[in-house]
Amino acid sequence: MTDVCGRTIDYLRLSVTDLCSYRCRYCMPEDGVVKRPHGEILSVEECVEIGRAAVDCGVRKIRLTGGEPLVRRGILDICRGLRSIPELEELCLTTNGQLLPRMAAPLREAGVDRLNISLDTLRPDRFAYITRRGSLAEALEGIAAAEAAGFTGLKLDTVLIGGFNDDEIGDFIDLTRHHPWSVRFIELMPMGECAGWDKGCFLPNRAVLDACPELVPAEPEGVARRFRIPGAPGSVGLISPMSHEFCAQCRRIRVTADGRLKGCLHSREELPLRGLHGEALRSAIRQGIARKPIRHHLTERPSDTPRNMNQIGG
Ligand code: GTP
Ligand code: 5AD
Ligand code: SF4
Repeated sequence: MTDVCGRTIDYLRLSVTDLCSYRCRYCMPEDGVVKRPHGEILSVEECVEIGRAAVDCGVRKIRLTGGEPLVRRGILDICRGLRSIPELEELCLTTNGQLLPRMAAPLREAGVDRLNISLDTLRPDRFAYITRRGSLAEALEGIAAAEAAGFTGLKLDTVLIGGFNDDEIGDFIDLTRHHPWSVRFIELMPMGECAGWDKGCFLPNRAVLDACPELVPAEPEGVARRFRIPGAPGSVGLISPMSHEFCAQCRRIRVTADGRLKGCLHSREELPLRGLHGEALRSAIRQGIARKPIRHHLTERPSDTPRNMNQIGG
C-alpha cells in the first residue's frame, strides 16, 4: 500500500517487549522500566494476528524488535506464527546478541531469516559502561553463535557517539576486512534519555568517511548508504537520520509492544490496534499508513515522541 506521499509501505517493525537485559545510557534510564502486567503487552496470538493483517495490507517484511526481543517469553512461537504467513518474504530480528548463544539455533529453526546485532564498542570497559550491565565477551559469543547457526548477511549496528566510540571507527571497519558482515554506523538521534546530551555527542556520519579514505561507494541498501574497502568481504553502512534524512524513502510502520501503530518513529501520533480484528484491524492499519507523517523534525527539535527507544524498538 502507498501512503499520501506515494511511499510504498511494506516493512513492519513489531516490538514484542519494552524490557531489556541492558540499560544502554542513550536508550533507557538506569532503573529500567516498570514491568507491566502481562495483559498490557500484546499476546503471542495478537502479535501474529497483527502481522497477518499487516501482510494483508501489503507488508512483506517484518522485523521483531524490543527492548530486547529475545527476553520475551513466547518469542519462538511468535516467529513460527509469523513465518507461517505465506506472503511474508522476510522475517528479521534486531537483538543485542546477549542471548544468542542459546537462542540462535532455535530462532533459525523457527524461521527467522536474518539478524541485526547492536554493538556499540569493541572495548570491554566501554561496553560495560555504555550498556551498564552487558559484557563484550558475551556479545561476541552471540555473534559467533549466530554464524554457527547458519545466519548469513549479519549486520552489526553501532551508534556513533562523539567522545565515546568515535576513536573506534577504524577498528569497526577492520572487521569488514575479515568477515562478511555489514558494519553500520547509526547517527545518534536526540530522543528520550539522550535528548539533552551535549552537542558533541551527536556526530555526523561524515566522520566515518573522514576516518577511512579507503572506503569506496557500493550499492545502497534500505536506509543505509553503503561503502566497502576494495576486496573486503564485508561492507560499511551509514544510517544518517540527522545529516542525510531518509524519510522520503521510508517504507516502515511500527507497532509498539502495547499494540499501538506508529507511522513514524519520532511522531507523537499513535493508533491503538488492540481489540480490533479482521476488517476493523486491517482498516486501522490502512488508516495508520495513510496518515504516516512526511518526515521527522530532529534537526529543528528533539523527537516529538514521549517514548524512549526501548518502548518503540528503533
Ligand atoms: P535491514 O532490514 O537490515 O535494512 O534493517 P534496518 O536498518 O531496518 O533495522 P535495524 O533494526 O538494524 O535498524 C537500524 C537502526 O536505524 C535502528 O536501530 C534505528 O536506530 C535506526 N532506524 C531504524 N528505522 C528508522 C527510521 O524509520 N527512522 C529513523 N530516523 N531511524 C531509524
Ligand atoms: N539514536 C540512534 N540509535 C538508537 N538506538 C537506540 N537509541 C538510539 C538513538 N537515540 C539503537 C540501538 C539499537 C537499535 C535498536 O536502536 O543501539 O541498535
Ligand atoms: Fe536494550 Fe537496545 Fe535499548 Fe540497549 S539500545 S537498552 S540493548 S533496547
